Amino acid sequence: MSEKRDLLSIDDLSPEELNKIIDWAISAKQDDGLFEEFMPLTGLTIGSIYEKPSTRTRVSFEVGIDKLGGNPLTLLKGDIQLGKSESIEDTAAVLSRYLGAITYRCFGHEDVEKLAKGSTVTVINALSDKHHPCQAAADMMTIAENFDELAGIKVAWVGDGNNVLHDLMLGAASLGMKMHYAVPKGFEPDEKIVSRAKDIAKETGGTVDMTHDPVEAVKEANVVYTDVFISMGEEHLKDKIKAFEGFQVNEELVSNADSNYIFMHCLPAHRGEEVTNGVIDSKNSVVFDQAENRMWAQMSLLTFLIHPAAWEAFSELH
Ligand code: CP
Ligand code: NVA
Repeated sequence: MSEKRDLLSIDDLSPEELNKIIDWAISAKQDDGLFEEFMPLTGLTIGSIYEKPSTRTRVSFEVGIDKLGGNPLTLLKGDIQLGKSESIEDTAAVLSRYLGAITYRCFGHEDVEKLAKGSTVTVINALSDKHHPCQAAADMMTIAENFDELAGIKVAWVGDGNNVLHDLMLGAASLGMKMHYAVPKGFEPDEKIVSRAKDIAKETGGTVDMTHDPVEAVKEANVVYTDVFISMGEEHLKDKIKAFEGFQVNEELVSNADSNYIFMHCLPAHRGEEVTNGVIDSKNSVVFDQAENRMWAQMSLLTFLIHPAAWEAFSELH
């Protein structure tokens, strides 16, 4: 049997794999009826552990797993022994005896690494403080739906140097895009991740640049992306918000973007804080397509990681 594959960051996929995963997801979305017959997860239960709340990730995994013929099992941290009377490693070993794969939303990224290490089945990071690969896969799919050519697209990020930015920049670099992020001083993304994204970009012809000026980042951008200023687990850092003055994505800021720009946000959005209603509700906004695409992208990822032969067979047919 081949070795199991995990997805802890979008960098666990090669550029070629990421491209194919997106194409697969787009084909699946275009012909939903296929899933009456194509059920690669039949007989498998896929468990999802949540230490933090979730709307999109939880529902899109549950519905997507069901469409693929699998059985979704959601485990809230308060209901299981994890972290109370059982280690992550022991939990991983036990769950591997029942489940076909495990998705895990946790606080510290090291926890999903431990789960992956202790598990004999595929582990997918459903958001940690450092990475959000499922979001990035859906984001790349959404960009691909809107632009004929991905290489050279300018993606502007305005906001916090957080988990969503990390995987967005890795994914964008992987697909040869020009990533330009604007963050306030003191809220820069992880240096190692930036350095890795720059290395990837060197190979693909993309670029990764930082500024502290939102206008510079957004200038002639094809994609403008933001996220909450205070992430889950940072609720005690209320004062952090003061650093984000001038970082709101509003009508004035997006007037610097390309006229056909798309606005993206992983959601949930704090309207009036990081983005105005005028932008998120505008014709340029694709935020609800992004949310829907979480399901198609994760169906592609799950099949690719758990049942690569079925994934290939589907690719060849479509
Ligand atoms: N974007 C995202 O991961 O949303 P949820 O927190 O609702 O899952
Ligand atoms: N950066 C946000 C993303 C939520 C989907 C958080 O971690 O809370």
